[in-house]
Order: sequence, then C-alpha cells, then structure tokens
Amino acid sequence: MPIIFDAEQKFFHLSNNEISYIIGIEKGKYITHRYFGPNLECYHQVNQLQYIDRGFATNPISEERTFSLNTLPLETSTQGSLDYRVSNYQFRNIEGGRITNFVYDRFEISKGKQRLEGLPSLRGDMEQTLEIYLVDHIQSLEMILRYTIYDTLPVISRNVEYRNDGAQVIYLENAGSMLLDLPRCDFDLVTLNGAHTNEATIHRQPLHPGIQKLASSRGTSSPQHHPFLGLADRCTNEDQGCVYGFHFIYSGNFVAQAEVEQYGSTRIQIGINPETFEWKLSPGSHFQTPEVVLNFSARGFNQLSQTFHKLYQTNLIPEQWREKERPILLNSWEGNYFDFTEADLIRQAQLAKDLGIELFVLDDGWFGQREDDTTSLGDWEVNREKLPNGIEYIADILHQQKMKFGLWFEPEMISVKSQLFEKHPEWSLCVPSYPQTQGRQQLVLNLSLFEVQEYLIKVLTDYLSSKKIDYIKWDMNRHLTEVGNFLLPDDQQKEVSHRYVLGLYRVLSEVTKKFPQVLFENCSSGGGRFDPGMIAYMPQTWTSDNTDALCRSKIQYGYSYLYPPIMMGAHVSDSPNHQLGRNTPLESRFLIAMSGNFGYELAIEKQSPEELKEIKEQISFYKKHRRLLQFGQFYRLKELDAAYSTAWLFKNETEALLVYSNGLAQPAQPVQYLKTKYLEGTSLYKETRTGKVYSGSELNHAGILIPRIKGDFNCFYIHWTVTE
Ligand code: GLA
Repeated sequence: MPIIFDAEQKFFHLSNNEISYIIGIEKGKYITHRYFGPNLECYHQVNQLQYIDRGFATNPISEERTFSLNTLPLETSTQGSLDYRVSNYQFRNIEGGRITNFVYDRFEISKGKQRLEGLPSLRGDMEQTLEIYLVDHIQSLEMILRYTIYDTLPVISRNVEYRNDGAQVIYLENAGSMLLDLPRCDFDLVTLNGAHTNEATIHRQPLHPGIQKLASSRGTSSPQHHPFLGLADRCTNEDQGCVYGFHFIYSGNFVAQAEVEQYGSTRIQIGINPETFEWKLSPGSHFQTPEVVLNFSARGFNQLSQTFHKLYQTNLIPEQWREKERPILLNSWEGNYFDFTEADLIRQAQLAKDLGIELFVLDDGWFGQREDDTTSLGDWEVNREKLPNGIEYIADILHQQKMKFGLWFEPEMISVKSQLFEKHPEWSLCVPSYPQTQGRQQLVLNLSLFEVQEYLIKVLTDYLSSKKIDYIKWDMNRHLTEVGNFLLPDDQQKEVSHRYVLGLYRVLSEVTKKFPQVLFENCSSGGGRFDPGMIAYMPQTWTSDNTDALCRSKIQYGYSYLYPPIMMGAHVSDSPNHQLGRNTPLESRFLIAMSGNFGYELAIEKQSPEELKEIKEQISFYKKHRRLLQFGQFYRLKELDAAYSTAWLFKNETEALLVYSNGLAQPAQPVQYLKTKYLEGTSLYKETRTGKVYSGSELNHAGILIPRIKGDFNCFYIHWTVTE
C-alpha cells in the first residue's frame, strides 16, 4: 500500500519502491514532517522528535515548556502565534485580525489523483492521494493538505485547498502550496536563474542562516528565476549523491524559499507570491493552490532529471503528444524578421521542403500593419500588402506539398497602435488615473476579464477551424504592469495577477482541447515563461531567443535539469549569430540544435550550395535517429565548466548517441577519456562510422579518448547501435 496510516503511532507513511515520506500528528493536533528520502521498508519512529525547553520558545500548552511549534518540523506553518519561520498561508478577517489556529481534524486516502480545477496539474491513475484536513474552529476555516505519491517514480505532488466554512468574508493574504521542514541545513541550494537570452544558468551555493528566496512579481514565472529549488548534499554531482527537487506547476508570480532557522533545520516553502496576491473568500467558498512536484534522487542530478523528464512527458503534457514525433521546422523569424512577401515565403518553404523540412512556421509580421514591433498586436487579420492571398493560400500550397504550416501569435498583447486598442482600450491592463507603462511598445491584455478570454478563444478558434494551421507559436514578450481590473471591487484588486494566470489557463485549455491535433509551442521572448504550468498545455517551448550555439549549450544544459530535449525548441541559425555575432561551424550548430526540439531559423536562400547540401544531410540524419533524440533517455556526462564544454548522451534499447562539444578551446589540455556511464554494461555497441564494437562497460568505465580539437566550439558525435 503506498499510503498507510499508523493509528497507534499516529503517522502517515507514503511510500513506493524508491521513496518514503512520513507525516506525523503530534498531540492529536499538529502535523509534523518526519521524513522524506529513500524508501523505508517500515517505520517505527527511530528518528524521534527531541523536546527541549528553549529560550524564547512559545508553548501551546503553557506548562509543557519543552513542546513548542517554534522548533517542531512541520508540514504547514501556524499563523500569528507559535511558529516564527516563513509561513505558508495567512488569513485576514474583516476586523483586520490575522490569527488562526488550525488543528488536525481528519484524513482521507483515495485512489488516483484529482485534477486541479482551473489549474494545470499532473495526471495519475495508479497513484494514491492523502488529504489531511485541518480546521480553525474559531473562524470555521478549513485547510486541506493534499499529497499524491506516484506509483513508479520518486515523486510526491502537493497542493493545498483553503476553505471558508464560516459566515463572514475572510481574505487570504498568502496561499502557499507547500511547506516542509527538513531536520538539517548542510545542503547546497541549486537554482536556475537568468535573463532574456541568458536563461537557466545553474547556481549552486551552500545554504546559510536566514531566508534564501527566489521570486517573480512580473506576472509570469520569468526568465529571471525559475520556479524551482534543489537541495543537494554537498557531495552530490551529476551521477551520485542525494538531491531534492521542488518544482512549481505555475506560470505567474511565485515565491520559492529556503529558510535555515536558528537550530539548523531547513524550511522549504513554495507558492504564489503573496506580495502581489490576495483572495477574498466569501462564506462557503474555497481557494485551490497550484501544485508542487517533490522529486528525490539518491543518484545525483542526472537521476533527478530522468524523473522530471519522465514525469512531465508522461503525466503533464497533453496526452496526445506523449508519443507523437515532432516535425523538423523552419521558422521565418531570423531569416526575414518583418521583411517578407508571399513569394519569399513560398520560395523559402519550397526550398525547405526540398531539404526535408516538414513544417514551415510563419513568425511575427503577417498581420495588421506589422512592419516592425511597434504596432498591430491584437489585429489578428492578415496583412494583405504582404500576403495578398491570405494565410489559407500559403497553407494550401504547403499542404499540397505535404508540408505542415504554423503561425505565430502573441495573443495576450495589444499595441496602442492597433484597431483593437481603438475599440477596446479598457481591455488592456490599467489602473484608473495612472499612465499605462509600455514594454516593447505594447500593453498587456487583461486576461482576468472573461470578455477578453472569450475574444481570444474566438480569434484562435476561427483560425484553427479552417484546419489549415498545424502549429501555433504562442508568444508573450513583456511583463505585467498596472495590474488592475475595473470590474472587480476594491477589495479584490489584488486578485488580478492570479486571475490573469487563471484566465490564460482557461484560454489555453479550451483551445488546446478543441484542437488536439495542433502542436502548440510556448514562448515568451524565448524561455521567459518556460515552466511546468505552460507545458501542461503546450508540449514544447522556444527555449531562448539566443540561438548562438555556444550559449545554447549552456542554456539547454540548464533546462535539461528539469525538461527533456523534446520540450526545448532549438534551431540552427545563421553564422555570425544575430545575438552574439559569434561564428560557429554549421555542424556544431546542428549538433546542439539536434539535442533539442530540432529546427532551422536562418536565411535559407542565402546558404551556399555546400551549406544546403550539409543541411540536407543533417535532416536525413536527424530523421533516422528521431525516435532516439525525441524519446530516448538523456544524460549529461560532464558538468558544465568555464569553457562551456558539454557532453550529452541519448540512449534507447537499440541505439545511443553522444554529442560532445569542446566549448572554448583550452591550452595544455590533459588527455581526456569520456565515460558514457549510462550505457548498458552487458550490451555490445557498434560504432556506426568505424564499425568497431565495444562493450557498454568499457565505454562506461574506461571511456572514449577525446581527440585534440583546435578552435572554439567544435562539436562531434558518435553513434552506436546495440548489437547484442
Ligand atoms: C519573440 C520570440 C521570437 C520571435 C519574436 C517576434 O522575441 O521569442 O522568437 O517570435 O518575438 O517578434
């Protein structure tokens, strides 16, 4: 049984073959965190709680001075009394009171896993779910701590529901999704941070006393900080050591924090960012938080990644895309920007088709008066000057050639210079009396308005109903400002950031359900909203606007901690690169793009005949190994170093492929043997180019001699087939 309740000793034990998670009940009232880690066959409370009469402690039972919620390891915080560490929730009643007193009431264990209403969440049929009910009897409030343990993965998902069963309105000032206290602090904190064109840099540093906090208040999860926290043992590396990963399935403002408290324990708390949040709970209503994934690996970061990859590919992305191969695309952006004609596109698509490309994506610039990025967002009607025969005409031509057709939209935006703004200025996010702030000379549509949601559903439905569009790139190129909603009363204005995200999820859910055959690619100036919430609707993301292959090896390395290559859009672009000005070999650009969700984004007609020949060969190589590259297991064989050198391994039952990049050339290189580590030790692998056969164990442990490579950023690959 994955979840048991020990009625005598008063604890819950959630377990599968890999992990155990134990929750205690103290004094019949308080929910404590007792254990999270490798599977325990059974549990008899060997790790007893220690009760000490500490200075400054406060005690729920006054004469019991050794019992204090200041120091107990908890599964949720208390409010306004007893526990001074970071809190997971906060209520305010209409008198302004901010005290609650939640105590344990009951529990339920059920089979399967509920999907969260209006929010993206993991699927699960074979799973088991535990609900622990806590009640504040004074104000008739209820809190449900929900835990699902996965059957075959070292994963627990958590969320909280807050309910107002009283007769008075109450406000939720903070509605966290998860809190737990681990009994030690000798961890390294691992986070993914960055900026536009520089996403997902991995930072790792030892935890120190106090709060270490990542947050977004930009309206989206943001490229600045990813909604993820890792806690790794000091010795943990890619291949060994323990690490916990906490990942938030949410695309808006978040907070993810670790607090090392006075006696050396670590509190982890994740949820919607309370700085930009409040929710009015009328009598009888409830608030459902987004979900957090808790992942544990005892075999380093690679194992942690394997779990995330499998979980998201199997239980999070839209089901119809789980096993479906993704087409090789040519995106029009870097090759044309806003400057193209119908004839240009048709010629380019034709050439792409001859090279073996399967999907042509018309990026920005096809609608309204869009000659640059200052106008027309919201006017989703074709620009007849550029495309006199409309979108359908181009789509038809491509379809006749057995090519798919994709289109760029930035649905959440509105340009001031647009017909939509003339008609509906009130649809843009604004606060009365204050000027609206533009970013990229555009405003944000207020997706918290039902009318705006309906409008977007209609626009997209109209386009997709023609059945001419096979793919949509859903972009979002600025963050939110003047977050207000003129339809809501004053005491609900702080709900708007979250309502925006709920509105977005509603539109995405409706449209992607209506058109399950359409492939959606998530984008926010690249990885600006690359998070598990968006992945639940759109199975791939444009990873970064930075297409420089050297930078991409770092960015894709970072995201690969959490997402498999199939989720990371990666394109071969021109050299010198448009963002960095760097020259890199075409083969290196290919090998890095091939290690993601593969495509091209370059001036295809300006490539030399030799380059076109090489591109054609790349495409046919990719097609041969597509299943391996899109659905195989992915491992990082080297930690990213200062030279940005990387080594990636793809493997499945029948073949394996190594992609190695030297990054920036270094002098006095030592002799290097690269160990493949993760091949099947007892299998034989035949190297495709040389025909030489090696055992998996020698490749894994003795390693491949890395040739001396001159020049920056040269990549090579080795492909093997399994012969036995
Ligand atoms: C964003 C995207 C790019 C491209 C442009 C178009 O920056 O990330 O890929 O679509 O917008 O304006």
